[in-house]
Amino acid sequence: MNIVRNVMLALLLLCGGAGVAQAEDGYELWLRYRPVEATARASYLAAARTLVGGTSSPTLDAAQGELRRGLTGLLGRPQATGTAVADGALLYGTPASSTIIAGLKLDLTPAGEEGYVIRSMTVDGHSVTVIAANNDKGVLYGAFAFLRLIQTRQDVTALAIASAPQHKIRILNHWDNLDRNSERGYAGLSLWNWSQLPQIDPRMIDYARANASLGLNATVLNNVNADLRIYRPEYLAKVAALADAFRPYGIKLYLSILSSAPIQVGGLKTADPLDPQVIAWWKSEADRIYKAIPDFGGFLVKANSEGMPGPQDYGRTQAEGAHVMAVAVKPHGGIVMWRAFVYSPENRDDRAKKAHAEFVPLDGKFDDNVLVQIKNGPLDFQPREPFSPLFGALPNTNAMMEFQITKEYLGFATHLAYLGTMWEETLKSDTQARGPGSSVAKIVNGQLFNHTLTGMAGVANTGTAENWSGSIFNQANWYAFGRLAWDPELSARDIAEEWTRQTFSNNATTVRPIVAMMMGSRQTVVDYMMPLGLNMIFGNGTHYGPGPWDEISSRPDWRAPYYHKADANGLGFNRQASGSNAVAQYQPGVAAQLSDRDNLDYLLWFNHVGWSEQLSTGRSLWDELVYRYTDGVTKVKQMRRNWTALRGRVDGERYNLTAQYLAIQEAEAQWWRDACLAYFQSFSKLPYPKGYAAPAHPLDYYKGLDARKNLDAKLATGLN
Ligand code: GCU
Repeated sequence: MNIVRNVMLALLLLCGGAGVAQAEDGYELWLRYRPVEATARASYLAAARTLVGGTSSPTLDAAQGELRRGLTGLLGRPQATGTAVADGALLYGTPASSTIIAGLKLDLTPAGEEGYVIRSMTVDGHSVTVIAANNDKGVLYGAFAFLRLIQTRQDVTALAIASAPQHKIRILNHWDNLDRNSERGYAGLSLWNWSQLPQIDPRMIDYARANASLGLNATVLNNVNADLRIYRPEYLAKVAALADAFRPYGIKLYLSILSSAPIQVGGLKTADPLDPQVIAWWKSEADRIYKAIPDFGGFLVKANSEGMPGPQDYGRTQAEGAHVMAVAVKPHGGIVMWRAFVYSPENRDDRAKKAHAEFVPLDGKFDDNVLVQIKNGPLDFQPREPFSPLFGALPNTNAMMEFQITKEYLGFATHLAYLGTMWEETLKSDTQARGPGSSVAKIVNGQLFNHTLTGMAGVANTGTAENWSGSIFNQANWYAFGRLAWDPELSARDIAEEWTRQTFSNNATTVRPIVAMMMGSRQTVVDYMMPLGLNMIFGNGTHYGPGPWDEISSRPDWRAPYYHKADANGLGFNRQASGSNAVAQYQPGVAAQLSDRDNLDYLLWFNHVGWSEQLSTGRSLWDELVYRYTDGVTKVKQMRRNWTALRGRVDGERYNLTAQYLAIQEAEAQWWRDACLAYFQSFSKLPYPKGYAAPAHPLDYYKGLDARKNLDAKLATGLN
């Protein structure tokens, strides 16, 4: 917490605390616990008047602390803590921690290892609410779930809930460097204050609380492009301090490492994973780490990707590279998350095919404590991608999902894009790997191919910004990721509503327009940035503004024209049999659906389409492009109007920040539209359709170039 915030809080307390409106700077996230309306208070109190626990443990204490904090805020008075069953008692614990819970003989099977049961019951003639679990962690998750029910104004008088997470590892990946820059962070600096650690900032506890409230149970502290100094003893002591702080909240620590660690950390001459000295080094290194952090989770590895070292440097496979680490951490109960994000200039014909080509032949060759971590799409977190063809193609491998919460390619902190809908789209995609109904969700949760080591990773969007995520609406993406990691079958709409109710208000006139804004927001970004399956057309290496004419990055191999293939004939990447044939990496039924010319979401992802070719909408490709880009801008304008209508119903601080960002988004949506259309028009040579407000100057995209300069200035001042 910064000084300004502390001073503000002190002032609030001086002014009389509860009588004064609490600061709404976003720091509290969705755990605001504002008082329920007087009319609803009695029925909630009847379910949670006193807290009745049992023996204590750090995790049970955390559960009790949260219940106290939450109920005090929501119901307006501190809850008494008792030991006796009375009307309105909230009983919480495990059969081991509470004799009362043990005596209830509840069937806790559905709670599994980490889940919970919440029941309204009559015990000794008293109506009570019970939060019970097999393990302390389940009690903590149940406590948060109960508070969520009140925060979202659900009826809690007849509860019969059983919930268990569908993935074993629910993990954030922080792409944070030791200098506190975050590789794709748009919310200030890295949360990990290395110079201050091992002293624990209270913010670390709030980070753990926020994650636990969603059921997230793991975090990787450092960037996949790893700085191996983190393995020095002085850093490991700091990592251990964080592990201690997070442990009561059920969060395990993992670290990124590189295949070259035996050389860089161990001082060996080689890092060949089959070399006996290297094998021995990994074992002793694991022993050293586990000595410092006994419940260390394991490693995350990016290998032979974007210049990172890997087993292929020694002619070994990715599976052999993972194996040497897997056997080292196995005796300690550790795991290895081995990323499948690979591409290289040798695969110039189609970068999107590389991961499938490299990993499918290795199916079944990875150890059972290895998870292959696969990005949702075959490229790289674009506004829209088809699901990665690796999902469904690795039946004998533990395969986990990697989503990106931080919006590297969807407008950073300033553009509003709710990603719940995007992730739902991926998870629901049918791979047809075992016939129809073989959704990506069923592969990731282990159901389809019978795997028990399962996981979902999200590249985190947190930083030192007071509101954690750079914008209020970016918090919703952290929230949605956590909820889907617990249950991939939740609907994006329900999650958006839950978040809105806790973050803003339970008033339907506020909830409805905010949820509507969120639900349409990602498609809106797709339309004004990269409609119809376009991708990677960013300029200037920023992954932010338009640059279809130029490069996505400084790497000359991967400039935007490689991805969009605009020419005098048309636009789009031919991935059909007549082109790169990437479509053949999908099951035939899926391939047909994805590459169908009527499937406009992926039209230009799979096809090179003539400018005048008529699409299923009745418009030509050129007219459809103009229509989509224009519509995207129109929808941002509509979002702004909807937000303006909420003035006075949302507190001033969060209202203003969001209003300012929406203004930026509108201007930049126009920048995208004008720059991309002007550029593509230079190929199509077709006129703008009637009624379209064409850029005043046909070469208006040069304005975009000016805007790029502005963007550089903005980035230099750290605004984004
Ligand atoms: C993207 C991103 C990089 C990141 C890489 C990865 O290319 O821009 O910053 O390192 O993905 O996922 O490894």
